[in-house]
Amino acid sequence: MLTLSGVGKRYPTGDQALADIELSLPKGQVLALIGPSGAGKSTLIRCVNRLVEPTQGSIRLDDQELTRLSGGALRRARRSMGMIFQEYALVDRLSVMENVLSGRLGYVGFWRSFWRRYPQRDVAEAFRLLERVGLPHAIDKRADALSGGQRQRVGIARALLQSPKLLLVDEPTASLDPKTSRQIMRLIRELCAERELAAIINIHDVALARQFADRIVGLRAGRIVFDGMPQELDNEILTRIYGEEDWDSAADQAEPEGGEVVAAESVKHKREESTRLAELKPAISGGGV
Ligand SMILES: Nc1ncnc2c1ncn2[C@@H]1O[C@H](COP(=O)(O)OP(=O)(O)O)[C@@H](O)[C@H]1O
Ligand SMILES: [Mg+2]
Repeated sequence: MLTLSGVGKRYPTGDQALADIELSLPKGQVLALIGPSGAGKSTLIRCVNRLVEPTQGSIRLDDQELTRLSGGALRRARRSMGMIFQEYALVDRLSVMENVLSGRLGYVGFWRSFWRRYPQRDVAEAFRLLERVGLPHAIDKRADALSGGQRQRVGIARALLQSPKLLLVDEPTASLDPKTSRQIMRLIRELCAERELAAIINIHDVALARQFADRIVGLRAGRIVFDGMPQELDNEILTRIYGEEDWDSAADQAEPEGGEVVAAESVKHKREESTRLAELKPAISGGGV
């Protein structure tokens, strides 16, 4: 369904963020893209929806060559790719419902179209989606009144309202606590199964990738260094992707569903993240669902 051949990206700064990417994603497959910070994960998914222009290669979605599209054709193609972001990218002062309906507009024309009335069937579908993602009571709330987990649910509903064929998901859990992270990953996974959606999920948490993906691709310095099943991911492969680390002290296996024991890798990330946050905003308190 989605095929990348020989894709490369060199930024104007000279950074070769991607090189020789060969990747084929069948319908309905959930692929986790893992790799250290700076490996090129965000660049790869942004090349697919052309938020970043690839400098080499071909990207095909069904029978369409995405790298050659422009104008209206590009906008239409982007609508078939739902994007879900780490920082949710909601409009804070708008209601949950308005944020979801903005998914109908793709990436451009939001302000132009916002003042038009939305078709009744879009509103009805937005209601159904908000119910499905577990937010039936938050429809009128302002986006900035929600917790991180709830904001991500709005982001997911917004992406689905476009009726995409493919989801592009960039670090969906990076701002969430471990329990909420699992709930969000499980929701994305279930929605992909229900709607036969393919997804590329960038995620630095190896335990989550193992638990929720059908397939794992490891990126290092812009190149694919692993492409296989979650159960094939052993310490040697993790070292190939991330470099030397003490993998035995990190969790070898995904934690059980709903378990309280958090994988060491995920704890480490969360700790680093909360340290960073604490430096920035001493008043910030813990997240919630
Ligand atoms: N807008 C940009 N301009 C120049 N270099 C960039 C830009 N965005 C990313 N890069 C570089 O490209 C490489 C890959 O970055 P990125 O795709 O963000 O990796 P990841 O998402 O895996 O952390 C890094 O070396 C990064 O510094
Ligand atoms: Mg990134």
